[in-house]
Amino acid sequence: MKKDLLGLKDLSAKNISDILDTAATMKLILQQPNKKTPHLQGKTVVNLFYENSTRTRLSFELAAKYMSANAANITASGSSVQKGETLIDTAETINAMGTDILVMRHNMSGAPHLIAPLVSASVINAGDGMDEHPTQALLDMLTIKEKKGGFKGLKVAIIGDISHSRVVRSNIYGLTKLGAEVSVGGPSTLIPQGMEQMGVKVFKSIQEAIVDADVVMGLRIQLERQKSGLFPSLREYYRFFGVDEKRLKFAKPDALVMHPGPVNRGVEFSSAVIDCDQSVINEQVTNGVAVRMAVMYILSRGGFEE
Ligand code: CP
Repeated sequence: MKKDLLGLKDLSAKNISDILDTAATMKLILQQPNKKTPHLQGKTVVNLFYENSTRTRLSFELAAKYMSANAANITASGSSVQKGETLIDTAETINAMGTDILVMRHNMSGAPHLIAPLVSASVINAGDGMDEHPTQALLDMLTIKEKKGGFKGLKVAIIGDISHSRVVRSNIYGLTKLGAEVSVGGPSTLIPQGMEQMGVKVFKSIQEAIVDADVVMGLRIQLERQKSGLFPSLREYYRFFGVDEKRLKFAKPDALVMHPGPVNRGVEFSSAVIDCDQSVINEQVTNGVAVRMAVMYILSRGGFEE
């Protein structure tokens, strides 16, 4: 059994389907007036975040609390990391306090892979550098499954900063394992070489990427990367790659509009597209809590089947 969730690259199609089925059950709990269940009673969940987060950190915390776990948060800025403590020493310290589940976000790709074999706690990757963000992709997949019924033959277009996105990598692993066809599109400076080897189609024009799509997923343009000159300006990015109502018409009429957040209005999508009837961005956020409950539930019962 695997005690950790480090990425969707490591999970089988069955592991992923089991998480989505469990999340659907967890969602029923979220719809009750009393959201408390005893599934993680007596367990301790610690969120260790070296990068900023709104959605991921809060939804892990709420998921843990809804299942009656003891939940605590640590951010790098308020911890002994500021005094020079290493990541390994910090993780081992948290583990030594009886932590059962350690949720980690780190700016270095591979950080949770380094920690997982060193601690008895189950480690959940909440986003590592440009590598993976598995629970984000799982909540995206739960949203798609709810709306479209499944994944076989579904056309998913992912648009934006493909190079620096951990969300896109986890989605590609998860969606292709369950039978979806994935296209990626964006400026050529933001698409890495060899994407086709991940089993996706690559387009340099947004129209080609989203034509006949069942799902149009935008990725955050990382404003901090603008300094490195990967595209001339946000205005020019929006002109050529932003999804507005006109461009959305290239997709199927009932295509879902998705975004992991945080979204830059008027950059990845127009405000009209973010707020349109096809947009499921807020439902993605709700599903994030259900997916994180499901993952922690499965890990607390021994982990994922190999
Ligand atoms: N989607 C996502 O990871 O959002 P946060 O950075 O707010 O957690």
